[in-house]
Amino acid sequence: MSTVLTLLCLCSLTLFTAADCKVFTPELTSKIEAFVEKYMQAYGPVGLSLAVVKGNETWTRGFGMADKASQRPVDSSTLFALASSTTVFTSTLLGMLMDESKSGYTWNTPVKDILGSDFQLENDYITNHTTLKDILAGRTGLSSSLTPILAGVEMSRQNLTRRIQYLPAVEEFRDVLNYNLWMYTLAGRVAEVMGGASWEELLHQRIFQPLQMTDSRVIGYNVKVDADNFALPYVWHRNDVVLSDSAIYRFTPVEPTIGIATSAGDMAKWLSFHLREGKTADGVPLLKKETLKETYKLQMALPGTFNYAKKPKDPVTFGVYGTSFCWFLSYYRGYQVEWTGGGLYSYNNFIALIRDVDLGIYFSTTALFDTNIYKRFEIFYYIVDLLLGEVPWRNTTTFPKFSLAPDRNATNTTYTPVVVPYIVENPELFEGTYGNRLFGDVSISRNTSGELLVSYGRILGKLRKTNSTNVLLADLYGPLEFLHIAEMTWSTSKSPSPHQVNLVSTSRSC
Ligand SMILES: *[C@@H]1O[C@H](CO)[C@@H](O)[C@H](O)[C@H]1NC(C)=O
Ligand SMILES: *[C@@H]1O[C@H](CO)[C@@H](O)[C@H](O)[C@H]1NC(C)=O
Ligand SMILES: *[C@@H]1O[C@H](CO)[C@@H](O)[C@H](O)[C@H]1NC(C)=O
Ligand SMILES: *[C@@H]1O[C@H](CO)[C@@H](O)[C@H](O)[C@H]1NC(C)=O
Ligand SMILES: *[C@@H]1O[C@H](CO)[C@@H](O)[C@H](O)[C@H]1NC(C)=O
Ligand SMILES: *[C@@H]1O[C@H](CO)[C@@H](O)[C@H](O)[C@H]1NC(C)=O
Ligand SMILES: *[C@@H]1O[C@H](CO)[C@@H](O)[C@H](O)[C@H]1NC(C)=O
Ligand SMILES: *[C@@H]1O[C@H](CO)[C@@H](O)[C@H](O)[C@H]1NC(C)=O
Repeated sequence: MSTVLTLLCLCSLTLFTAADCKVFTPELTSKIEAFVEKYMQAYGPVGLSLAVVKGNETWTRGFGMADKASQRPVDSSTLFALASSTTVFTSTLLGMLMDESKSGYTWNTPVKDILGSDFQLENDYITNHTTLKDILAGRTGLSSSLTPILAGVEMSRQNLTRRIQYLPAVEEFRDVLNYNLWMYTLAGRVAEVMGGASWEELLHQRIFQPLQMTDSRVIGYNVKVDADNFALPYVWHRNDVVLSDSAIYRFTPVEPTIGIATSAGDMAKWLSFHLREGKTADGVPLLKKETLKETYKLQMALPGTFNYAKKPKDPVTFGVYGTSFCWFLSYYRGYQVEWTGGGLYSYNNFIALIRDVDLGIYFSTTALFDTNIYKRFEIFYYIVDLLLGEVPWRNTTTFPKFSLAPDRNATNTTYTPVVVPYIVENPELFEGTYGNRLFGDVSISRNTSGELLVSYGRILGKLRKTNSTNVLLADLYGPLEFLHIAEMTWSTSKSPSPHQVNLVSTSRSC
């Protein structure tokens, strides 16, 4: 399945040959390759792109197929969507703009001082007090929602700024971690106002160009996922790998949260930039190292339940204790780790920095069968152990035993226990258009067979009731059918007929 494709060993981007690499010796890289190939057999991704940086050495490698039909392999330039891992670019960009700010803006400047009267949140207190730090730390307490992104709601970022006042507060201000796609997008808007150009332009000018990230793009702005250098958007559907519709990968206006597409070669440059404390390969600083460090600093503490591996059950501990500006902060074998992992439809990735030993890892996948973040740690554990000179506690022998074997039959049964498989009683009560001032209208109609159907942008589904009186499930059809179901909550509390569809939800972790 995963053919050996390209073997690149770029020592500090100069003309070294593999033999000059002291770290990425053929012995080491062939171990990593064997492990990743085993991983691919276990978790079924179609393509996988990997970059490892240790000190001034870089190793990148593609596995599997970018396009199965033409047998185009993944290589170090193949693009994958970064999904939520895009946020760490947006916070770095803001750091750059802050360093140059003539108005003296800092992470603690209230956002309203930058955005002006266009900007209003749900109440005056949070409008007055929300800072960039609150937004990037995910602690505004405002509701987040993925549903409008699935639907493909489109508006300008300026219009989002005006309408964000309709996003309800669901938690206390500054109390809990509540990853919020819409608030990160607002951070992108702040960058636009500070930098005097679109987020896309600023990203290209200030990060991609100086770091020579020549492959990197923004989806919907200057690349599409069906481009001929993209790993095509394969997804699992009914125990099969199928291509998803490229039209669902349009994210306006949330590109500053999920819009970047990048390659292993480019991510190696990005990781090196972090390991060099914010400098280009030529030693030119793009922001102050203190400003960059601020983006790794603990903002929200997490409970010990985030320990992903823990002695004595496991031979090591990988404990997550908090979050910064959308990096998770952890310890692994005593070393401080900053990591993040994004996922959307086909694409799932992982990025980690262990700055104390000058180590960075990135990998991205298409059609990873089990998208649980635990499964992505496997590659991290193995590579980090090898590079730290430890005997890997997960290896090609122990891997299947240690990891939960993927149950490929489980997908289509995941949701069935909570569903009562009857049609909705009194469907006519639900018919009509439900307005949302921030996220647009949701339409519910009955077709001639009396089926109750929901239509909300790209979300098309047949509704059925559940054992919870105000929750209906949509069996999806159309371009999002591979996601199987979408849950929608109707408020029926006082009115005899349902009068509200809830498009917003509480905490989702990064
Ligand atoms: C890479 O780093 C090592 C150790 O820090 C040093 O000995 C070597 O000269 C460096 N190589 C290059 C190409 O900069
Ligand atoms: C918010 O700021 C405005 C303008 O400074 C002020 O009039 C108002 O009292 C403040 N409201 C709260 C709740 O802080
Ligand atoms: C922004 O909002 C204005 C006024 O509501 C509307 O006319 C315009 O079409 C919107 N533009 C976008 C791109 O959302
Ligand atoms: C999963 O779905 C497939 C295709 O619809 C079906 O053949 C299979 O029996 C289902 N598996 C289970 C465990 O329900
Ligand atoms: C994997 O680890 C186990 C336990 O440490 C060891 O017995 C085994 O030889 C290792 N296998 C490989 C391929 O390194
Ligand atoms: C899926 O189910 C089939 C039939 O029940 C079984 O033969 C197969 O081993 C199962 N596959 C997995 C990965 O569990
Ligand atoms: C009504 O919608 C359901 C679900 O999409 C579909 O299966 C059925 O064929 C439709 N009936 C008509 C008459 O279009
Ligand atoms: C719905 O059914 C599931 C499983 O049958 C059960 O766990 C859950 O508690 C039920 N919920 C309600 C609100 O009755």
